[in-house]
Amino acid sequence: MHQSLVILGSQWGDEGKGKIVDLLTEKVDYVIRYQGGHNAGHTLVVDGKKTALHLIPSGILRPHVRCVIGNGVVLSPEALTEEIRMLQERGHSVIDRLHVSTNCPLILQVHVALDRARETARGNAKIGTTGRGIGPAYEDKVSRRGLRVADTADPAGFSEKVRELMEYHNFTLTNWYRAKPVDVESMIEETLEAVSYFKTAVCDTVDLIHRCRRNGKIMLFEGAQGSLLDIDHGTYPFVTSSNTTAGGVATGSGLGPRYIDSILGITKAYATRVGSGPMPTELFDNAGKHLAVKGQEVGTTTGRGRRCGWFDAVAVRHAIEVNSISGICLTKLDVLDGLSEVEICVAYELPDGNVVDYLPGGDEYLRVRPVYETLPGWDETTFGMTSLDEMPKAAKQYVERLSRVVGAPIDIVSTGPDREQTIVISTPFGVD
Ligand code: GDP
Ligand code: IMO
Ligand code: MG
Repeated sequence: MHQSLVILGSQWGDEGKGKIVDLLTEKVDYVIRYQGGHNAGHTLVVDGKKTALHLIPSGILRPHVRCVIGNGVVLSPEALTEEIRMLQERGHSVIDRLHVSTNCPLILQVHVALDRARETARGNAKIGTTGRGIGPAYEDKVSRRGLRVADTADPAGFSEKVRELMEYHNFTLTNWYRAKPVDVESMIEETLEAVSYFKTAVCDTVDLIHRCRRNGKIMLFEGAQGSLLDIDHGTYPFVTSSNTTAGGVATGSGLGPRYIDSILGITKAYATRVGSGPMPTELFDNAGKHLAVKGQEVGTTTGRGRRCGWFDAVAVRHAIEVNSISGICLTKLDVLDGLSEVEICVAYELPDGNVVDYLPGGDEYLRVRPVYETLPGWDETTFGMTSLDEMPKAAKQYVERLSRVVGAPIDIVSTGPDREQTIVISTPFGVD
C-alpha cells in the first residue's frame, strides 16, 4: 500500500482536484497542502451538497482525517479564520484536526493592496491574478523580509517587524503606484486577532509529517493550481508564484522526494484557464460555449468565467514529465457528452511552419497554432457513470486515445461532481 500519495493539477488549475482528494481520503489519515494559498478554490460535492475550500485541505469533510497546512503555503490568517468558521457553522469539527506550520509565510493586508496595485499598473498586460496577495507574499519570503506564523508568538516583536516592513511597502504603494497606504496598526491588530483564533493548531509540521511516516500513516499531498501555472515550469510570466509541480511537495512540506510513492495527475477531459496568458486550444465558437456552459466553468475563488478549449496533449505531456506523474485521473468527461466531434491537440505549429511536440519558451508560445486529431463524439450521457462497461464506445475510444497520446495510464475517470460519480480503474494506493 502506498503511504505518500500526491494529487496535483496537470493543466491550468480547476481540474477537479478537490473532488478527487475528498474521494480518496476515505483511505487516508492526513491531507497536506504544500504550496499556494487561498487563491485555490477546490469544490467538493457530497450527497449533492457543495463545499468550496480555499486553504483547508480537502480531507476536512471526513471526520477521521487530519489536515495539515505545510510550510510552503502562504497563509492569510483572516482567510483561514473565515474558512474554519464556515466549516464549523456547517457542523464540521476543524480546529482539533488542523495543523498549521510555524514556518508558513504570512499574507498581510498590504500584500493584497500590492497585488491589486500591480495588476492595475500592468493594464492590458495584467496577469489576471486572484487578487489574494499571493505574489507579493512569496516575494517577501524570497527576499527574506517576510513574516511567518511563528513571529506572531511574540506580539511586541511581531509588531516592530511589521512596522519596519511597512515603511518599505507603504513607500512603494504611495510613491510608485500612487495608491493609498495601508493602516499599519489596524493591520497588526487584525492579523494577531485572526492568528489567535487558530493558534492551538500551530506546530512543527515537518516533525509531524515524519512521525506520521514512521508510524505508517497514509498521507495525501494536495496540490493547488496546475502545472502550467508553476513559477518555473509554467507559462511565465502568466503563472502563480509557487512551485505547483511535484518538486513543491518536498520543499513545501519537508517530505523528502524519495518518500513519495505515487503522483496522480488530475486532468480535465478538455482545457480551461482563468486569467491571462497563452492557451493554444482556446475556443471562441459553439464548442467552446458548450464546454463553458455544460462544465459550469466559473471560477470558485473569483467568480470569473474560465476560458475553455480542446484537450492539449502537448501541455499535459509536459506536466507528466516535470511531475513524474504515475497515473492520470481524467475528470469532467461527461461535459463532452453531446458534441458531434472532439479534438485533441497533439502538436503545435510554429509561425515558420515547423511542427513541434514541446512547449516553446517565452513569447513564442503565444504564437503557436494547435495541430488537431479529430475523434467522433457521442450523444449518449456518461454523467454519473460508475463503470467503464456502461460507457459509449466513442467516449471509451476518446479516453484510450488520450492515455496513448499523453503516455500515461488513466487510473480514474470522473463523470460528475459528486464523490460517488467516479470510475476507479486502478487504485492510486498501489493495492487495496
Ligand atoms: P479544483 O480547483 O481542481 O479542485 O477544481 P474546481 O473545484 O475549481 O473546479 C472543478 C469543478 O468541476 C467543480 O465545480 C467540481 O464540482 C466540478 N467537477 C469535478 N469533477 C467533475 C466531473 O467529473 N464532472 C462534472 N460535470 N463536474 C465535475
Ligand atoms: P485551483 O487550486 C485556476 C491563476 C490566476 C492567475 C494566476 C496568478 O483552484 O486550481 P495568483 O492569484 O495565484 O497570483 O494568480 O494563477 N490561478 C488559478 N487558476 N485555479 C487556481 O487554483 C488558481 N490559482 C491561481 O487566475 O491567472
Ligand atoms: Mg479551483
